[in-house]
Amino acid sequence: MAKITAGVATSHVPAIGAAVDLGKTGEDYWKPLFKGYEFSKKWIAEEKPDVVVLVYNDHATAFDMNIIPTFALGCGEEFGIADEGWGRRPVPNVMGHPDLAWHIAHSVIDDEFDITIVNKMEVDHGLSVPMTLMFGQPDAWPCKVIPLAVNVITFPPPSGKRCFALGQAIRRAVDSYEEDLNVQIWGTGGMSHQLQGPRAGLINSEFDQDFLDRFLNDPVELAKTPHIDYLEQAGAEGVELVMWHVMRGALNEKVTELHRHYHVPASNTAVGHVIYKNS
Ligand code: DHB
Ligand code: FE
Repeated sequence: MAKITAGVATSHVPAIGAAVDLGKTGEDYWKPLFKGYEFSKKWIAEEKPDVVVLVYNDHATAFDMNIIPTFALGCGEEFGIADEGWGRRPVPNVMGHPDLAWHIAHSVIDDEFDITIVNKMEVDHGLSVPMTLMFGQPDAWPCKVIPLAVNVITFPPPSGKRCFALGQAIRRAVDSYEEDLNVQIWGTGGMSHQLQGPRAGLINSEFDQDFLDRFLNDPVELAKTPHIDYLEQAGAEGVELVMWHVMRGALNEKVTELHRHYHVPASNTAVGHVIYKNS
């Protein structure tokens, strides 16, 4: 049977992708950030997941004000890398796993999560930056990816509780897929950041560190955090953290934290990263 063996959470700041693409990772500004991913790259090379369910958000790339799916599951064979205004990032296309993705769609919709099914879309930095952080710069990504896009761009985003419950439904879906597959779930985005307005550059390390502690030890209560708390304390874009709850809901309540990294700043953003093993 397929099994979710581990979860990864990481921020997806686009400047991180640019630093890798432009060969700047050895610069003093970037070194401490990338140091925090050395363990992760070694670990994942040994884990060799077959499939990653990658929870991310689209930043007005595949979707815009014409259509705003709350949860969109990528069921296609292949997802192209978007040009977000500076040319396409030099990273490979993402190969999907349509069979497992359609199984997840059937299962979660039966479970009353009426997600949107997407067969064709391009993915942006929300997905490609976490791939780069975990896998570096290969010619082809070493695993299949099922993108799950969550709307956190236009209010109202889904609640943290709903995201957590969707993670639980994804867990049930994967557990009922017959092929032996090593599946990981990734939650991306965050941590505290605000990109626009008078509070641009806001970073709240106290909020972030508390989030990282409770994400490990008290995930059910943490998922109940209302949107207004993210807005007030973690900045307008801090609400991206609801995507982490999808990942957490798909794991056991008790997990082993294999790795934690927190770094400020990457451009205007606090970067957080954890790896949890289902135990
Ligand atoms: C930036 C964009 C993001 O989507 C994000 O999550 C963090 C930072 C940026 O443009 O700097
Ligand atoms: Fe973002």
